[in-house]
Amino acid sequence: MLQGKHILLGITGGIAAYKICTLIRDFKKVGAEVKVIATPNALNFVTKLTLQNLSQNEVYIEEFDIKNWKPEHISLADWADIMLIAPATANTISKIAQGIADNLLTSVACAFSKKMIIAPAMNVNMWNNDAVQNNLKILQKRGIEILEPESGFLACGYMGKGRLCSLDKIYNAVEETLKYSQKLKGQKVVITAGGTVEEIDPVRYISNYSSGKMGLALAKSAQSMGAEVVFITTKDFDVPFKKVLVKSAQDMQNAINEEFDTANYIIMAAAVADYRVKEFSEQKIKKENNDSITLELVKNPDILADLCKNKTSQTIVGFCAESENLMENAKTKIEKKGCDYLVANDISRKDIGFNSDENEVTILSQDGAIKKISKASKSVIARKIWECISTK
Ligand code: CTP
Repeated sequence: MLQGKHILLGITGGIAAYKICTLIRDFKKVGAEVKVIATPNALNFVTKLTLQNLSQNEVYIEEFDIKNWKPEHISLADWADIMLIAPATANTISKIAQGIADNLLTSVACAFSKKMIIAPAMNVNMWNNDAVQNNLKILQKRGIEILEPESGFLACGYMGKGRLCSLDKIYNAVEETLKYSQKLKGQKVVITAGGTVEEIDPVRYISNYSSGKMGLALAKSAQSMGAEVVFITTKDFDVPFKKVLVKSAQDMQNAINEEFDTANYIIMAAAVADYRVKEFSEQKIKKENNDSITLELVKNPDILADLCKNKTSQTIVGFCAESENLMENAKTKIEKKGCDYLVANDISRKDIGFNSDENEVTILSQDGAIKKISKASKSVIARKIWECISTK
């Protein structure tokens, strides 16, 4: 599984650094390539020579020890399939969470856009410190996997939570991640996001509360799994893949149609307005003496249903946001639209869904299977959705 994979291993200054030597050997034994970045403090616990011999590679420490035209932190980030930081001290965790890049390890972490796993190890009081806990939450929200430390006797003499988790757990987490990392290689994924904007006149429009965050998380996740991503969105996010900015449902449909033939997956995470005004007013509608006005609305195309009618080999996924009778409505909707999967979420709950960073969803599939994904950050939910729908 790990053969030929590039593992970038960050080691920080904690006593558990010595245990990582065994892990490097385990990775090397199965044919993985390992490059080690050590913080200067890590070398108080384990020598550069040991790490160099075990990884059979140079050990990277100083940021400005540049050997070629590309800055070291960028070429290391480009080289890696995964970045693992173990043991991670409270200091390094907090710096990465806040975007501080004051040594080679934190600079690489800052430039790293693929999957990262962090295995913390520290004194129990440091682990329980509110600032550290808040920083861990920030990292988790960004999709970074935290392998929680275990409880027991700590090297500092305390009893409690803080001991580096088992090497088996770290090894399995790396293996599990890499198993999915290339799952979408060679696949073109088209994802829509955000609420469509249906203009009434030059200053007014009809839209909805969709933030586009779930679609964005799905797009990032697909990219980390090796896909070529086309992101069709009404929200102007900065993204490292092809973005097509659209407004109305009709614009969105045109943009998807451009990509349809060559797409392998189409994910309709956008909240498409069902209606638009019949006549767009070129001039601002004036109040004049009207106590009320009537806007005539006409139906927008049902993009998802049309895609499903014309599909050849694409896997098509719809979303459904419901405020009541979630499962009943979702079952009717997957039948009606004809998509391969439907991701249903309950918008009556304030803690998940629209605008929130978290979600909880149920995935229905055309063959009747139902999979519930419990509440988690949208990036974790995105990964689980991909794991479920990319099994074909
Ligand atoms: N959708 C679409 N085109 C539309 C309306 C919705 O492609 N005109 C897609 C959405 O992107 C989503 C799925 O259909 O993937 C379900 O959207 P939803 O708003 O829940 O369903 P509607 O068909 O609009 O039904 P209703 O509003 O009556 O619940």
